[in-house]
Amino acid sequence: MGWYNKDVVNILDFSREDIELLFSKADEMREQLKDKSVKKTLSNKIIGIAFFEPSTRTRMSFETAAKRLGADTVGFTGEEGTSVAKGETFADTIKMIDSYVDAIVLRHKFEGAALFASGIAQNPVINGGDGKSHHPTQAMLDLYTTKTLFGEIDGLTFALIGDLKYSRTVSSLIYGLSMFKPKEIILISPQQLKLREEIKLFAVDHGLKIREEENIEAISEADIIYVTRIQKERFPDLQEYEKVKGSYKINKKILETHAKKTAKVLHPLPRVDELSPDVDNTNYQAYFLQASLGVPLRMALLSLVLGGD
Ligand code: NCD
Repeated sequence: MGWYNKDVVNILDFSREDIELLFSKADEMREQLKDKSVKKTLSNKIIGIAFFEPSTRTRMSFETAAKRLGADTVGFTGEEGTSVAKGETFADTIKMIDSYVDAIVLRHKFEGAALFASGIAQNPVINGGDGKSHHPTQAMLDLYTTKTLFGEIDGLTFALIGDLKYSRTVSSLIYGLSMFKPKEIILISPQQLKLREEIKLFAVDHGLKIREEENIEAISEADIIYVTRIQKERFPDLQEYEKVKGSYKINKKILETHAKKTAKVLHPLPRVDELSPDVDNTNYQAYFLQASLGVPLRMALLSLVLGGD
């Protein structure tokens, strides 16, 4: 295993040891950011940011991470300004970007896009999210934030709330948690947004204790309350989306009534209406820390993959 020159397509391509190495490297990066002592160890590298789907945090934290380490970035968000709009194939686009840069961070609406690209590119391909299946660096960030908050991941109870069917952050987080020993994973969603059967089977096969609930009160035992947005863009039928739209909302009152005092709320963001801004100024709120840790975590990842030191 290890990180050097590896594609980062699926979190399961890495071991617990690899993930722990990433976390300790991210801790170092955090310290260096604080002291303003980051070394420009990637100053001879260029990173291609090929985002075929919208993004704020993933793209900007990768770019910031690259630039903090002295690397440069080139890229695009959305197909409109690229030759894909003229009919260029995905394979040709990847082949060309690969010849320009030292690593490609890719986001795409189709599942399997990152795996496909990794078969074409000589340089490492880092999956910034593909369809509803994988978002490995977000899962690494979610686990790293948990470790930063609680000092450990083993023994904690996670409540995953919302669109468990289409959220790639949820499937990647469950894959990631399978390398650790959480106490329990409570899956809270409306009936129509339940976790896909294949992920449920994976969880059970890997010894994860999961429990499905529909009522929000089930957050009562959770240490981490992980809220997700309804993935409107992944619904094959918008009428189905209309039926579940607005069907759950976490707010301060719900947390104060049902959650443990020590529980922390994470959300990969962006939020729409599933997480009230009245949680922002409570002790439960940890999603802004989570978003900010995206930079040191991705600095660590780029450094390990590209051989920063
Ligand atoms: C997530 C994504 O793109 O899957 N966002 C992110 O990367 N932070 C979650 C989402 O879009 O709801």
